[in-house]
Amino acid sequence: MILTNLPEWKDLILHFKEIQPLTLKEMFAQNKNRAINLTFEDCGWFVDLSKNRITEKTISLLIKLAEARKIEEEIDGMFSGEKINGTENRSVLHVALRNCSHTPIYLDGKNVMPQVDAVLAKMEHLSQNIYSGAWRGFSGKKIKNIVNIGIGGSDLGPDMVYQALKFYSNRELTMKFISNIDATHLIEQLKDLNPEETLFIIASKTFTTQETMTNSESAKSWLIKRLGSNEAVKNHFVALSTNREKVVEFGIDPNNMFEFWDWVGGRYSLTSAVGLSLMITLGPQNFKKLREGFHLMDQHFKQADLSKNLPILMGLLGIWYNNFFEAETSAILPYDQYLSRLPAYLQQTDMESNGKGVDRNGTPVQYQTGPIIWGEPGTNGQHAFFQLIHQGTKLIPCDFIGFAQSLQRFPDHHHKLMANFFAQQEALAFGKNKKTLQQEDTPIELIPFKLFSGNRPSTCLLSKKLTPKTLGALIALYEHKVFVQGIIWNIFSFDQWGVELGKQLASKILPELKSGKIDHRSHDSSTNNQIRFYLENNESSVLIDSMGDIA
Ligand code: F6P
Repeated sequence: MILTNLPEWKDLILHFKEIQPLTLKEMFAQNKNRAINLTFEDCGWFVDLSKNRITEKTISLLIKLAEARKIEEEIDGMFSGEKINGTENRSVLHVALRNCSHTPIYLDGKNVMPQVDAVLAKMEHLSQNIYSGAWRGFSGKKIKNIVNIGIGGSDLGPDMVYQALKFYSNRELTMKFISNIDATHLIEQLKDLNPEETLFIIASKTFTTQETMTNSESAKSWLIKRLGSNEAVKNHFVALSTNREKVVEFGIDPNNMFEFWDWVGGRYSLTSAVGLSLMITLGPQNFKKLREGFHLMDQHFKQADLSKNLPILMGLLGIWYNNFFEAETSAILPYDQYLSRLPAYLQQTDMESNGKGVDRNGTPVQYQTGPIIWGEPGTNGQHAFFQLIHQGTKLIPCDFIGFAQSLQRFPDHHHKLMANFFAQQEALAFGKNKKTLQQEDTPIELIPFKLFSGNRPSTCLLSKKLTPKTLGALIALYEHKVFVQGIIWNIFSFDQWGVELGKQLASKILPELKSGKIDHRSHDSSTNNQIRFYLENNESSVLIDSMGDIA
């Protein structure tokens, strides 16, 4: 049945009418146990939902909606290898990648765990050879620099986790990420590296992605030119991919290919071979703990009662704001500088998964789907966009993510950071009224400007300490939250057809830029005009055809 025709949906519409006029202040006053009743603790995370515009009844009605959508069957379907990526006819088994309990997970009657474990063992072997110096560069030097070339899921995950767990990383190794096809990225990242000591990890599920292949070819030229032999490639390039043929064609020894499979979605591939840069820089033990964190949340998601299930609760809360309050966006605000790339990572997880306009039958949806995800670490955001969250006209549900312990020994900094963390949520929820402003002797003409309406929702995610394990659990929490929402909206969360058209058109335009001849008939007048301006002003497109050298 169409989502909005479900009786459970209609109950929520009626309930929304009761909740909308209520303020958080009133809701806290009405129920003294609210904070306790709406806080959930599991997998190393304390998740306080009480500063959201919900009551316990909201949760039970949302759970009824999830049940009407057969949420438990859907979850079982994913874990048991059903082909839930319908448009690509693929299973979705990222949970197998971190299945630390090693219980068999079957796909088409075959247990996938031996393949998963074999690749992990191979990754560990390479990492150890790099530390020990058994793996040497072409001229015999030890590897000191790791460069991951990839984009989207083959970049954002490793980059985000590397930044997040830098505290635990081997500081003798330099880690660089190259993703953008803009040569600036490549050139700036390679600038101070000695090619003799550099290992390139080419991460691409398909091994056909234009950005990654272009950057990889340029990196190969850079290396060969400096080391004076094509033979050097085998000591300095490894591949993470599902496409063996293309890896070989590129010139990488198949023994140096780390395999993954079509049942691993790019944006869910962090704990597959795509995590090789993390295995090397963080060490196999930390990579294992990261996977354990993921696994813990996976098990929780699979087994916990719906009323206490963190991904389910957070997913349903997102539905509540997106479809009833009509919130367009959702902010991710990590109060930890190490998590600075988390919002960008979650943008892909969420927006590439649930940015869909047709349901699983291919029918345009008559309701809103995935929100816009954005954010920056606190406290920086406070001095930039928090003004709008506090006093603007838009409702923006915020996730505040913080830790009780800092990884740095600067308690003064940490207390100040976390004082802001708590204060912002308090301010958003309860605001500041006229009476308080008057008591503060605010000039009467300034009162409207200094008022804080409050009643602005936030979720608090607190953990004891940022560790590989707590991070793994956090990432899996968001992954499954996105899946839950896709189930409610009846959309396919594991494909990404929306990225294709731009790629197709770019491949038509590229020859025009290279030749300097516009195919006027194939574009609209605006595009023709833009290309004309480009060609008239782009000297290099005439002078240099491809990037033969890197300074
Ligand atoms: O174009 C989008 C996308 O397919 C993402 O889903 C994916 O993470 C990224 O490109 C990179 O793809 P690949 O790993 O195949 O290079």
